[in-house]
Amino acid sequence: MPLPDGFARRLLPILDDIVAVHGTPFHIYDARGIIETHRGMVRAFHGRPFRQYFAVKALPNPAVLSLLLDEGSGLDCASPVELELAEYVGAVGDDVVFTSNNTSLPEYDRALAAGALITFDDSSFFDKVGTLPSTVAFRVSPHGVSAGSPLMGDAAHTKFGVPADRIADAYREARRRGVTRFGLHGMMCANELDVDRAAAAAADVIELGARLAATTGIELDYINVGGGLGIPYRPEDKPFDFQAYADAVGAALRRCFPGREGPRILMECGRYVTGPHGVLVTRVINRSHKTREIVGVDASMSALMRPGFYGAYHHLTLPFATGRAHTRVDVVGALCENMDKFAIDRSLPDPREGDLAVIHDTGAHGHAMGFTYNGRLRPAELLLTDDGEVVEIRRAEGFADYLATARWPPRRVPVTASARPEHSPATREPR
Ligand SMILES: Cc1ncc(COP(=O)(O)O)c(C=O)c1O
Repeated sequence: MPLPDGFARRLLPILDDIVAVHGTPFHIYDARGIIETHRGMVRAFHGRPFRQYFAVKALPNPAVLSLLLDEGSGLDCASPVELELAEYVGAVGDDVVFTSNNTSLPEYDRALAAGALITFDDSSFFDKVGTLPSTVAFRVSPHGVSAGSPLMGDAAHTKFGVPADRIADAYREARRRGVTRFGLHGMMCANELDVDRAAAAAADVIELGARLAATTGIELDYINVGGGLGIPYRPEDKPFDFQAYADAVGAALRRCFPGREGPRILMECGRYVTGPHGVLVTRVINRSHKTREIVGVDASMSALMRPGFYGAYHHLTLPFATGRAHTRVDVVGALCENMDKFAIDRSLPDPREGDLAVIHDTGAHGHAMGFTYNGRLRPAELLLTDDGEVVEIRRAEGFADYLATARWPPRRVPVTASARPEHSPATREPR
């Protein structure tokens, strides 16, 4: 999408100066935009018990997480390292939800020790666990409206959650084991821009909560309707109307829990909160002609994997190339992979070497999905603060980072004698 107005107003007048002192490439995020989006979500629920837990995986930078925590957001973690990061920025107890899948027992123990609200992805794992948390939530598999959404992938063969028709038994078993407080989780959307479909998917989870109450007598403390709300990556996409969504969720609660307030609503959005409030700033360094015009920039897909990996569209602008005729180009990075393209056959004001290029909507699942293949290391992250300052919130990686986990010279692994191949059953003489 085009840059949000405020972000453009705050960033573009100083972009040249930032580049002059910092160089390219870098991601830069807009604190004001992130704060306003979070506040808008809270306002939309009109005082109804609601908490948004930012999905740490979308933008796991301490500066951004602590900004959101200060605003009253919780943090949604999916791994022990994310839990550690949440603690590092000051999240405690139910400031954190732990929504993992294919979880190990040590990972679970870590979440238990943190006092997080834990979502069990499957009842088979629940059965393995010794100590239970005081509140237990199960994640329901995509079903109902979301099962038919192309964005949810192959919902019929999902690896996530407990199938809806078996979930009541999971709650009965939890109650039998002494649990007295319950939540329900349903992540039913992925980058969903259609408010009606997103709201219908949330209503499916809320209705399931009401059916659980009717069939098991279990009253839920909360229903977590997950994340997955979309942002308009393409200029022709319409922004998601969060107010309409919150109103529809409120209506579903009134319908399913008449005469009662119903369970608290939690969400764990990432993309919707930070996605539009970040850009990747890069510079055109090469121009060549193959079957198409090729424009090489100084960032690679290791800094933003979505276009190369998913074929995802990210809007791209050349902010200082006004008045030029447009031409169709591929915008490429430097990885030895032909998929390393930020834009394919895109019409742009004829790019020249030295131009700055701004790749939009990198505030979520951008830097976070970065990697180091080819030694094309992850770039810096900057933040435009609420006071209009520019601060570095993660430096660019260098050779020392690339080497940080290597063992050179190698470190011996003290393998015990019985584990050596000559003693293993496969190599013994037959008796
Ligand atoms: C369980 C869960 N919660 C929340 C999210 C955040 O999704 P989004 O950033 O699209 O809102 C994800 C994304 O993968 C997820 O798997």
